Amino acid sequence: MVARVTAILFVGDVVGSAGRRTARALIPALRDELAADFVVVNGENAAGGLGITPDTAEELFAAGADAITLGNHTYRQREVWGYLDTEPRIVRPANFLPTQPGHGTCVVERDGQTLGVVNLSGNLFMQAATPAFVAIEQALAEVADADQVLVDMHAEATSEKVALGWHLDGRVTAVVGTHTHVPTNDARVLPGGTAYITDAGMTGARGGVIGVRREQSIAVMRTQMPMRYDSADEDPWLMGVLIRASGPRRAGSIEPLLRPAP
Ligand SMILES: [Fe+2]
Ligand SMILES: [Fe+2]
Repeated sequence: MVARVTAILFVGDVVGSAGRRTARALIPALRDELAADFVVVNGENAAGGLGITPDTAEELFAAGADAITLGNHTYRQREVWGYLDTEPRIVRPANFLPTQPGHGTCVVERDGQTLGVVNLSGNLFMQAATPAFVAIEQALAEVADADQVLVDMHAEATSEKVALGWHLDGRVTAVVGTHTHVPTNDARVLPGGTAYITDAGMTGARGGVIGVRREQSIAVMRTQMPMRYDSADEDPWLMGVLIRASGPRRAGSIEPLLRPAP
């Protein structure tokens, strides 16, 4: 039997309306061009740059996302709390408290193939109930039957993301980092067969400061005074990675994707 190659497109943090517009404009064509079986999108900044709402989540699903991952801004928009409990395809970090809304894993199916999606939060400079490296075991048990597994490690510290890649090497198809909104140049398949990148980057305006209007960000840094932040619009790009599997829970390749909005 010839093993079928599964391709997974992972899209980095979608930021604000510019990010959503870019996702809508590019994901359907990318799915065709790359023959992607699955599309996973980090949506933690989809609503005005902070958090996600049911409407913006539906917009990402309509654009072609099979699953949405989140991060430290998960609960910023109160109206999404109930939605996180009822929509199986959206996941928040698995190492949040069980009493917090939502769930940390999901399994999506397409053409007879299944993809398990796990979201984790780093523990350095971030609020998460339990260590990612402990919570991952229960999370993997929840997706034990999936053909492929992708883990989105939403973390500030590069060390936590690198360590998780090594920790899961040979056990999952891919470990992708998110949160910094800046793509790293270290995409590779680790020796055990797990595709890895420290940060996939963002889908949003490169003309800003990690998605925020640059004049506002610079003013806060210069004056040391608080100020309102709005999402930037200038020069939006889609950033992410394409992972091709080589067998069950094994990657053959991972390639970065950097595409300007049309
Ligand atoms: Fe983000
Ligand atoms: Fe984040």
